[in-house]
Order: sequence, then structure tokens, then C-alpha cells
Amino acid sequence: MNENTVKQTLLSAVKPTNIPTIGNYLGAIKNWVKMQNDYDCIFFAVDLHAITAKQEPQKLRERTLYVLASYVACGIDPNKTLIFVQSHVPEHTELAWILTCYSSMGELSRMTQYKDKVQKEGQNKEKENIQAGMFCYPLLMAADILLYQTNLVPVGEDQKQHIEITRDIAERLNNIYGKDLFTVPRALMPKVGARIMSLQNPSVKMSKSDDDPNGTVSLNDSNDEIIRKVKRAVTDSGNEITDDPSKPGVKNLLQIQSAILSKPIYALVQEYAGKQYGQLKSDTAELLVQSIEPIREKTNEILKNTTYLTALLKDGAEKARNRARKTIKRVHERIGFIAFSE
Ligand code: TYM
Repeated sequence: MNENTVKQTLLSAVKPTNIPTIGNYLGAIKNWVKMQNDYDCIFFAVDLHAITAKQEPQKLRERTLYVLASYVACGIDPNKTLIFVQSHVPEHTELAWILTCYSSMGELSRMTQYKDKVQKEGQNKEKENIQAGMFCYPLLMAADILLYQTNLVPVGEDQKQHIEITRDIAERLNNIYGKDLFTVPRALMPKVGARIMSLQNPSVKMSKSDDDPNGTVSLNDSNDEIIRKVKRAVTDSGNEITDDPSKPGVKNLLQIQSAILSKPIYALVQEYAGKQYGQLKSDTAELLVQSIEPIREKTNEILKNTTYLTALLKDGAEKARNRARKTIKRVHERIGFIAFSE
């Protein structure tokens, strides 16, 4: 990229509801690392989103720090990239409220994440108890993105609908208040790793909040745990190693390898011709151990260094607030709020 070219802004986040998984790493964080030189990058931990589900206060604090420390351990460089905690920048909630006033109940009701929740809770006639925060979740996420005039949002497949609603809302406000109010963002999806599946149920995505710990590999799992979980991974009947959709368990292991090695799946399928599932599992486990062990160790080292972490948080919050204020100021002016003079 030419030095004089203004870099596009690229932004993404992880929700600290638990320790990040290899889904978060391979589908998101690993790809962000490569983007730092070419884009003006912003990565943060979304603790305000985390409280849409019940959180234990001390655990939430620990996991929020874990997310930030693992960003750095994975190779996100705070000297090149803006890293911070969402709740340290109150402009996120401020813009979220404004967006709430320009969105409809109808469009929020059509969001898959909410519909899934209704379906699950509705069966227990508990729909009335779903938190309003869960319903408005996509608007806080839209605020996260629009606040920084983001061009690109690298996310896994599960977040695609959230970027679509963000685009709709940005266009809606731009039509009312001027085309330059918000940059309309685009989702950036990885070619492989966009959807790492549960090791125990390869028809659902691997999730931090899975009740079955054997379905996920977390970034703080020990080497033995990683090996045990991959060896127990559900594969499929038969013995041929292919990425055929009828073999979701085998396909998932191939996808994990492909994302780690940056190697196309068809090349892996060729290499595994005539080999057994056992070989595929032990190779996948070994590759995961090689990738996760240094990240786990580095994360623990960073977490012990409270001076470093405190400075990182402070610096990140200040820089993020300065940037966020610019958008908020513009939004206030266009909407008709009286300017605040100090
Ligand atoms: P979260 O914390 O669920 O996931 C963080 C990132 O990891 C990706 N991901 C996966 N990718 C592949 N396979 C999987 N099994 C897998 N599980 C998760 C997600 O797609 C995501 O990219 N709402 C968001 C956080 C958020 C955000 C934002 C993201 C809040 N504000 C603004 C981007 C921009 C979430 O819950 O991510």
C-alpha cells in the first residue's frame, strides 16, 4: 500500500462471556493479526454485550482482561492497533440509544439470534422474560461499528446479519441527515475458518457458551485437554477422509487444519487419501497444541503484568473516546441537540 493512501478503518470485537475458543481464534483473531499493516485497526472486548446474559461480576472482569491479553498474545500490536474495553467508552451506549430511536421492533424481531432465543424460551412460555437488552443487542453492535466510521468488519458467518442491519441503519440515518454522517460498513468473511463447528455436535457452531466443555477448545486449555478433546471429537461413519457435507465431523477437522495451515481443504483431502480418521485426529490435535500453547503462555504472562495492562487500558480508552466523540458531536449537530459548551 502507498504510504500516502489513507488507510481504511477495520473494526471487530469479541464478547467476554467466556474464554475465547479456537472458533474465535481461527474465525476472527488470527485473521486480524495479518490486517494490522494494511488497515487502521480497532479491536475491543465487548463487556456491555456480555451482560445480555447473566454474568458473575468477578468472572466478567477476568474474562474481559483475558480477551484483551489474548489479542496481544495472538499478535495484535497495541502500537499499531487500537485496543480497549467497550464500557470504558460511554459513547457506545450513547449512540446505541440514538440508533434505538431510528429502528423498528419489526426489524429487530427478525434477527436470527433473537428468533432463536424466542424459540427456545417460547417453548417454556417465558418469552416475556427475554431481556430488552437481548432484543436491542444488534443496535449496540451497530453503534460500535458506526462510531468509528468503520469501512470493514471482519467477522465469522454468525455475525453477518448484524452487519446487514448496521448497513440498513447507517443508510437510513444518512438519508435523513446527510450522506457523510456514517460510513456504511461491509462485512469481511474469512475463506476458511468462518464457521468452526462443535467437536461434539458438528451441526452447530463451536461456542464459548456451550454447556458441553468437550465440544469446544478454549485458548486456555492445556495441551492434554486439547489432545483429549480432539481425540473424542465426533467423526462420521465410514472411513474416507473427505469434506463432503455428509461428513460434518471430518469436514470440521479438515477446516481447523486448513485455517491453521492456510492450506486449501482440497489439498488436505488429497494428502489424507487412504489414511484413517485416527491420523486426522492426532494431526489436528498436534497442530492445535502447536498454535495454542504459545498463545496460552503469552496470555498468562501478560495477565501477570498488571502495570502493562493498566497502561494498555488507559491508553486505549483515551484514544477510543477521542475518536468516538467526533462522531457523536456530528450526530448531535445533525439531530438537533444543543451543543454543549464547557
Ligand atoms: P463473539 O464473541 O461471539 O465472536 C467473536 C468473533 O468470533 C467469530 N466466531 C467464530 N468464527 C468461526 N467459527 C466459530 N465457531 C466462531 N464463533 C465465533 C465471530 O463471528 C466473531 O467474529 N456480537 C459479536 C461481538 C461484537 C462485534 C461488534 C463484532 C460486538 N460488537 C462489532 C464486530 C463488530 C459477538 O458476540 O462475537
